[in-house]
Amino acid sequence: MNNTKSVALQLPNTEEEDDEPDVQSQEMKKFLKSLPRERGWLNRYQYLYGDFWVSGFALTGVISFQQNFQAKDSDVILATLPKSGTTWLKAIVYSIINRKICSLDNSPLNTTNVHDLVPFLDCKVYLNGQNPDLSGIPPPRVFTTHVPYPSLPESIKSTTCRIVYLCRNPFDSFVSLWHFHTRARPKDLEPISLEDCFDMFCAGASGFGPFWDHFLGFWKESLKNPKKVLFLTYEDMQMDNKLQMKRLADFLGYPFVENEEKEGIIDKISKFCSFESMRELQPNKSGNKRGGHFDVSSFFRKGEVGDWMNYLTPSMADRLKKVVDEKLGGSGLNLKLLC
Ligand code: A3P
Repeated sequence: MNNTKSVALQLPNTEEEDDEPDVQSQEMKKFLKSLPRERGWLNRYQYLYGDFWVSGFALTGVISFQQNFQAKDSDVILATLPKSGTTWLKAIVYSIINRKICSLDNSPLNTTNVHDLVPFLDCKVYLNGQNPDLSGIPPPRVFTTHVPYPSLPESIKSTTCRIVYLCRNPFDSFVSLWHFHTRARPKDLEPISLEDCFDMFCAGASGFGPFWDHFLGFWKESLKNPKKVLFLTYEDMQMDNKLQMKRLADFLGYPFVENEEKEGIIDKISKFCSFESMRELQPNKSGNKRGGHFDVSSFFRKGEVGDWMNYLTPSMADRLKKVVDEKLGGSGLNLKLLC
């Protein structure tokens, strides 16, 4: 975490202003003032809560999730860093689990946004600090979180619920993050440059990061307990989607049987959940706002591996590569930067 201290960006003078207009509770506003903070990507500030960075409006949900969520053995938890392909993973897992209940033509994914079918625990279910009763949801309940492994609620670790982690190389996820946040950043905040965001990213100061700690928490747990945590990468999903879908289905306890393989079910789900197909579904098209900030269409930008080459200069790429080598070296986790 030492690197996070090296971020030295000019923070705006806000003494007269409400630092967190999206945060309702005075208690939370006060708590936020006690935390280390840096310039935010989406909001004015982001905060260091324990070991990870989070925006003020998301922290209420994170804390409520940590305090209240009771995992069940049959739960499936999808875990990612923002902009790692979460939307894609949600659609695939939902389709695998529900394939016997409804055909793809009749899939609720055609009519309902996938983020409503497989909701975020921290950023949706518990967002404003509420504590909804989730006990009536039929098994398997499938939820998503961005919270790092060590900070997950104890019941997720102590039950036999399954965790699927989707990791994306930080070069592409950085570029994706930057696009997403600049598009959603409120107009009353000064724009934030690619270079400033890059400095913060390399120092670990990005949502739910440092990215390397996030990767390693789930990576190490997947090595220790492969029945508990399945570690997938965006790049492998792009390169061999069919193989990764089989791994996923086996892990979830919904393996594809011979007949299904013969009927081409894996290919059909893969095609249905592809970037091109998902982007065209009505509930994913432009015009719907999520959480007041994001238009749903912004979850579908380019969907490629290697787009970072169009944005990072050679010296930026060298710098990020050094961070990756230093932080992930020796872990056995090797990420593909191109396919
Ligand atoms: P890009 O900005 O690089 O295009 P998340 O869902 O975690 O917010 O991640 C969003 C990223 O995943 C975006 O990356 C988006 O385009 C990409 N994505 C969304 N749906 C996808 C799909 N079905 N297949 C591949 N990539 C997808």
